[in-house]
Amino acid sequence: MFMLPLKILILLLFFCLTFPQISSSTSTSSGGDDATVCIIGSGIGGSSVAHFLRQYSTNHHPKILIFERHAIVGGRMATVTIGGDAFEAGASILHPKNYHASNYTDLLNLTGKIPSSSESSISLGIWDGNGFVVKTLNANSNWGIVNKIVSFFNGIYLFIRYGFSLVKMEGFVDETVNKFLKYYEGVETRPVFESVEEMLKWAGLFNLTGKSLKEELVDGVKLAPLLIKELVTVITRINYGQSANISGLAGAVSLAGSGGGFMGC
Ligand SMILES: *[C@@H]1O[C@H](CO)[C@@H](O)[C@H](O)[C@H]1NC(C)=O
Ligand SMILES: *[C@@H]1O[C@H](CO)[C@@H](O)[C@H](O)[C@H]1NC(C)=O
Ligand SMILES: *[C@@H]1O[C@H](CO)[C@@H](O)[C@H](O)[C@H]1NC(C)=O
Ligand SMILES: *[C@@H]1O[C@H](CO)[C@@H](O)[C@H](O)[C@H]1NC(C)=O
Repeated sequence: MFMLPLKILILLLFFCLTFPQISSSTSTSSGGDDATVCIIGSGIGGSSVAHFLRQYSTNHHPKILIFERHAIVGGRMATVTIGGDAFEAGASILHPKNYHASNYTDLLNLTGKIPSSSESSISLGIWDGNGFVVKTLNANSNWGIVNKIVSFFNGIYLFIRYGFSLVKMEGFVDETVNKFLKYYEGVETRPVFESVEEMLKWAGLFNLTGKSLKEELVDGVKLAPLLIKELVTVITRINYGQSANISGLAGAVSLAGSGGGFMGC
């Protein structure tokens, strides 16, 4: 379902920020070769940041400290066994444009699993504590044509419920992801940032930090309040255990993580 490459994107932000600082550390009084980088958590975000930071800092040897509360690394990249069945504990989806995390999984020889068509056409239900407020038809037939018809009717159902808001939400997510992608540009073509604020302003992401996700989606993107109440809240809750009152930037990252997954049904 909706997952959290989000946290990774944020760490990636941290990473993009940290690397130029390291590379320019000789010119700052607080830096130097004895700089220490502290990373909190050794999930895929923290451990990949440590890895790439080491790899990119070829001329410097920053001391990297990772703080991890568990005895093993990996964070939520794990399976838990409950009643004899294995479940993903988290990090079950990586955003395909999260290139560092994706390269990191290659390095660890992890292989991706493409959802089978029966899994991806699974029906959607949203439970509000008392009953289902949204419930699509279940397309689990062996007949492709039946699944297509069911998914067509589900599309109409969602359109009647949310209007163009789903499309607008997808547009907002694409736009935000594209802003993030600017950080992949090499330091030859982008500035070296002195502060988080400067870095976010450069990519056009700073304004999102001054409002809640809800404010941005209502006033900026003009989404139907119903979509925010039902779907957006579900996404922020699953990813971060928060409501749509979460910071606009964190919320946008959260939605990016849920990306296409919903639109596919
Ligand atoms: C990921 O790996 C590919 C293939 O080796 C490489 O071309 C690309 O630059 C890497 N991306 C990042 C962000 O390191
Ligand atoms: C991944 O596979 C390559 C080639 O088989 C191997 O050299 C490398 O040690 C493996 N990496 C890990 C982390 O297991
Ligand atoms: C951010 O907000 C400021 C002040 O309201 C505005 O001038 C600027 O155009 C906004 N930037 C973006 C990228 O929306
Ligand atoms: C979100 O913020 C609004 C306005 O500040 C507040 O009334 C509401 O209770 C908050 N919702 C949650 C779930 O925190």
